[in-house]
Amino acid sequence: MTAMPLSAITPASPMPAVDADPLVGLYRQPPVEFVRGAGVELFDEAGRAYLDFTSGIGVMALGHGDPGVARVMREALATGLIHTSNLYRTPPVRELAELLTTRSGLPRVFFCNSGAEANEGAFKFARRWARAAGGSAKHEIVALRGAFHGRLFATLAATDRPHYRAPFRPLAGGVTVVERDLRTLEGALDRETVAALIVEPVQGEGGVRVLDPAFLRALRELTLERNVALIFDEIQCGLGRTGYFLAAERAGVVPDLVTLAKPLAGGLPMGAVLASEEIAAAMRPGDHGTTFGGGPLVSSVAVHVVQRLADPALLARVRDTGAWLADELAALAARTGRIRAVRGIGYMWGLDVMRPAAEVVRRALDDGLLVCTAGEFTVRLLPPLVATRADLARGIAILETALG
Ligand SMILES: Cc1ncc(COP(=O)(O)O)c(C=O)c1O
Repeated sequence: MTAMPLSAITPASPMPAVDADPLVGLYRQPPVEFVRGAGVELFDEAGRAYLDFTSGIGVMALGHGDPGVARVMREALATGLIHTSNLYRTPPVRELAELLTTRSGLPRVFFCNSGAEANEGAFKFARRWARAAGGSAKHEIVALRGAFHGRLFATLAATDRPHYRAPFRPLAGGVTVVERDLRTLEGALDRETVAALIVEPVQGEGGVRVLDPAFLRALRELTLERNVALIFDEIQCGLGRTGYFLAAERAGVVPDLVTLAKPLAGGLPMGAVLASEEIAAAMRPGDHGTTFGGGPLVSSVAVHVVQRLADPALLARVRDTGAWLADELAALAARTGRIRAVRGIGYMWGLDVMRPAAEVVRRALDDGLLVCTAGEFTVRLLPPLVATRADLARGIAILETALG
């Protein structure tokens, strides 16, 4: 393609056809385009169905084309209130804040637009509180081996993926990643210098590692003893995916801060930071903010989604089906001899395979199943929480072929 000056591009003389993809090449996208979604399936232009066990990376918990979500969106649009900014109050935002704080037991919430942004916000909240509570040196953020907290500068510094980090150094300072064991943490969580410990109760991108509830309880005790804020990053594992509204509930732990995003607003971008009264009280007007965070449209949808994901019947079904999935995936591993390890809980599973996981992902797609990776040798399954045993069994059968 010959370069054309931007000034020469008008509607009458559009850009000449490009032979390269105009998207920045950040994703290895397969040669398929989806035009429609329904329940656990996506459809391409030719009408071919693909069973979606990625849920848009853990976002579409209620599946695609959910009629309830569509209805709430239509009703919200009919009010004419899409965005007002956080300079003003609106009923959906108030309702969502009440719902999340009541259900989580953390009394304050801040809304933003994504997971990384929620974690960056939580870091700021923790630092603001820590400085006020413990002095000017108390600002370090500690994260765990295997963690993924996002790709912005501070969250990247808290993410344990050398090849994500290396090209972008220097990362934000004051963030360290330490081993995932209690003895290391006893040494690392210095009361004078550490503001916060951030933990995914189930590490997602790091290979789907379910942290032991006893370990999480020990972290709660240790952080209380050292006056360190405990942040649970529940962006992937929260809101029902483990069969608990928050994964923290499984361990019986109440952290100081919880971050949410992915499924929160039914596919619309939204993040949230839930905070204790003490931490929220340290924040002053102007300390943090975002133009779009928690507008009335996304909040209306989120109220509906959160109500459904908090439904005890749905959560019980995710727990039961998750236990069934554990057996089915163990049986798949035994049958094929091509899976080294199976890890997970609820509707969140990682399979360590013996070839690059991307190859299994590609073969599965060819056979009509969408799965993703969590590291080089781990295939990750994040089906919509509405997937039935029959849907899951169908996916496992396709996976069996793809593994072979
Ligand atoms: C546990 C966890 N934290 C943070 C993030 C970042 O979220 P986002 O991609 O919305 O910035 C992710 C995304 O995969 C995640 O899984």
